[in-house]
Amino acid sequence: MPRGLFVTLEGLDGSGKTTQIRRLAAWMQKRGIDPVMTRQPGGTATGDRIRALLLDSGTAPLAPMTEMALMFADRAQAIAEVIEPALAAGRIVLCDRFTDSTEAYQGGGRQLGSESVLELHRLICGDLKPDLTLLLLPSLEASLARARRRNERTAAQTGQDENRFEQEQGEFFKRVWQKYREIARREPDRVILIEGNLSIDEVHEQIAEAVAERLVAVRRTA
Ligand code: TYD
Repeated sequence: MPRGLFVTLEGLDGSGKTTQIRRLAAWMQKRGIDPVMTRQPGGTATGDRIRALLLDSGTAPLAPMTEMALMFADRAQAIAEVIEPALAAGRIVLCDRFTDSTEAYQGGGRQLGSESVLELHRLICGDLKPDLTLLLLPSLEASLARARRRNERTAAQTGQDENRFEQEQGEFFKRVWQKYREIARREPDRVILIEGNLSIDEVHEQIAEAVAERLVAVRRTA
């Protein structure tokens, strides 16, 4: 059984990732592909509990190292329970955020540095690399405005508090944004950088094109 394909979506809060992952899944389903969808933090029963701890702004401030350790604890569980079994069964896995998020948010935003993140990734995640990463980077201003609106809406509708990261200040997100660009420059073969304030359709077209190319390449080598 040929191994499946591991595709991750990355970007700042409010980059339109959630919309795009849904559109990509629909695009695949139309082509007879049934992807396994998951997200981080979360995606397993243990992960959902870790997620609540991580994103609840009522939780006492987490030390940056605690935050990073929890992200990796969540990821280790997701790899063991969801991602590896699906890839081994030849499925396509669509994962909303992966280790690039930890490098951007904890490595960049919290200033823990890339090296510690990459080292933990080797140790805890067996250095599992996505085959393809779609990185959505509209302008920082557009992302922040959208994230703020969404957060207010969610809190009003559900009373759920996933506010912690959205309360961070502009400087934090600027560091996250810059670290994402650095990752894209470092790994151009893996990371497709989709920049600028494009429409939902335009972003979807770029994503679909990149995924289609990768699917053809996989079939050729299979
Ligand atoms: P989520 O509600 O999933 O945000 P989004 O829809 O924008 O992906 O919240 C995830 C938050 O956790 C987001 O602010 C990014 C942050 N995060 C990290 O800081 N490090 C990580 O390793 C991951 C996976 C997420």
